[in-house]
Amino acid sequence: MNNTALMQELYDTPEIDILDEIRQLRARLGEKVLILGHHYQREEVIGFADVTGDSLKLAQLAAQTDAPYIIFCGVHFMAETADILTSDAQTVILPDLAAGCSMADMADDTQVRRCWQELAEVIQQPDERVTPVTYINSTAALKSFCGEHGGVVCTSSNCEKVLNWAWERREKVLFFPDQHLGENTALAMGIPEDDMIIWDPAQPLGGNTIEAIERTRLILWKGFCSVHQLFKAQHADAMRKEHPGIEILAHPECSRAVCETSDFVGSTEAIIQYVKKAPAGQVFAIATELNLVNRLRLQHPDNPVYFLSPTVCMCSTMFRTDPPHLLAALQEIEAGHVAHPIRVPAEDQRWGKLSLERMLNLA
Ligand code: 13P
Ligand code: SF4
Repeated sequence: MNNTALMQELYDTPEIDILDEIRQLRARLGEKVLILGHHYQREEVIGFADVTGDSLKLAQLAAQTDAPYIIFCGVHFMAETADILTSDAQTVILPDLAAGCSMADMADDTQVRRCWQELAEVIQQPDERVTPVTYINSTAALKSFCGEHGGVVCTSSNCEKVLNWAWERREKVLFFPDQHLGENTALAMGIPEDDMIIWDPAQPLGGNTIEAIERTRLILWKGFCSVHQLFKAQHADAMRKEHPGIEILAHPECSRAVCETSDFVGSTEAIIQYVKKAPAGQVFAIATELNLVNRLRLQHPDNPVYFLSPTVCMCSTMFRTDPPHLLAALQEIEAGHVAHPIRVPAEDQRWGKLSLERMLNLA
């Protein structure tokens, strides 16, 4: 049966049966399989994860496990990261190959290499003067680029540590693909706005003058998360008016205006821990993906939890991983043929591993 026919059959099966079959198959496969689940996964899927976490925690776990099969309930760049950090004998599976990340797609290898070339024309030796830092939400090719050029990967949990490391080595940082994580973190570290420029890959010199490039300390790629950009500072104002004493929590992929008005800015894991430690009765409005906020609301009945935006901000690619795809992944493992493992090419493995290990040694 081909993949489309199999998926159609699974979609025609009542969900209760799918969930039951996942349970049985999961038990039969035992330690052969590790299921990792990012906090943005839907409820019906996250319940099957052996471990849940943010991008950093899941990368750390991938580096430690010796399970022969790792099913990554997350998005493509996470599965690639896990493949780089595991051995050749292990297989990483992304249940739905269409689960990508629009932010990761905003910087490709050609664009970043062109940017590096343009920087070389202005400041001559970028390998001595600029540390490339890629957010983990990027392709394996960009992690490889960073490894090759003395750079490093960061996540939303360790961005400050990584930026400090980068500036200790070279005077400038090229940060991609998320402008906001770089900008919010640098501002919180006390780096003045005047020391940063935005690099628009569609423009010559990223839309900057030679003087601005020579002067800057931080070059921010013009990329963003389509989910987090939907939160606005006025949503926070409205929440505060309606619920005096409310605390606003935001993910650093949100805009500067949202982060600046928030009471706390942190990764998904940090937001979870913040709510966990709060006294009963504390009210929250949270600016991050909807599935996580809904889960926090259910897990903390003593803390009213609101979604910061009045509109639905959901990561549609995270949502692609559903019970039928998870079941199909498990069935393939049991049948002994994984049709679409995530395999990063050897060259990207080598350099990508270096940039990831530099990060993991700091984290
Ligand atoms: P964290 O997992 O680092 O919180 O990042 C959220 C995210 O956007 C994952 O794609
Ligand atoms: Fe990518 Fe944003 Fe979805 Fe995270 S939430 S996977 S950054 S699109």
